[in-house]
Amino acid sequence: MHVASRGSAKVAAIAGTDPDLIAHQLDGNDATAVAKLAADLAPIDSLIVTLSGGEGAGMLAAMPGTAGLGALNAAVEALVRPLAVELAPRRVNAVSPGLVDTPWWNGMPEQDRIAWFASAAAGLPVGHVSIADEIAEAVALLATNPSATGTILTIDGGARLVQL
Ligand SMILES: NC(=O)c1ccc[n+]([C@@H]2O[C@H](COP(=O)([O-])OP(=O)(O)OC[C@H]3O[C@@H](n4cnc5c(N)ncnc54)[C@H](OP(=O)(O)O)[C@@H]3O)[C@@H](O)[C@H]2O)c1
Repeated sequence: MHVASRGSAKVAAIAGTDPDLIAHQLDGNDATAVAKLAADLAPIDSLIVTLSGGEGAGMLAAMPGTAGLGALNAAVEALVRPLAVELAPRRVNAVSPGLVDTPWWNGMPEQDRIAWFASAAAGLPVGHVSIADEIAEAVALLATNPSATGTILTIDGGARLVQL
């Protein structure tokens, strides 16, 4: 399994943790470098794209200040179904998370983040903020199920059902 990050410290930290895990330093904005790595690794069984920055995202979807993030997410979702047909027999799926406790939120002051997560956990039907492993389980399901394609799997703790 190969993973990529822009940060040399992250790449160095991964090295040696698992003989089956190989880390590459890569900026997703560098199309030439992305194409070269893809060619070097071909054939690729499953490609999982999770990159984005949290800066400037505002508080959360469906709240003031999140128009850009909402438009971006809608664009990604709109790609899934046509790409699943255009790229067949390759399968194309997406996972749509709600609120996940990751470094994505590091731009928010710590005390504000703790208060926001506690408030959100109290309002979410599942009673907790998601962790990355819960999202990874959904990614693994879509990556390994041969009949899953053109699917957008919402794993949001019920966030879409309530007003947080
Ligand atoms: N956390 C949430 O609540 C939440 C909710 C809904 C959706 N999402 C989405 O879920 C995805 C994963 O987010 P996360 O929560 O795991 O955030 P994260 O912990 O901040 O991870 C995002 C990763 O994106 C990588 N990245 C950013 N720009 C990059 C670039 N130009 N090239 C390569 N890598 C780049 C960064 O890796 P390096 O710094 O190592 O390069 C960073 O580790 C994102 O698309 C995010 O928008 C998150």
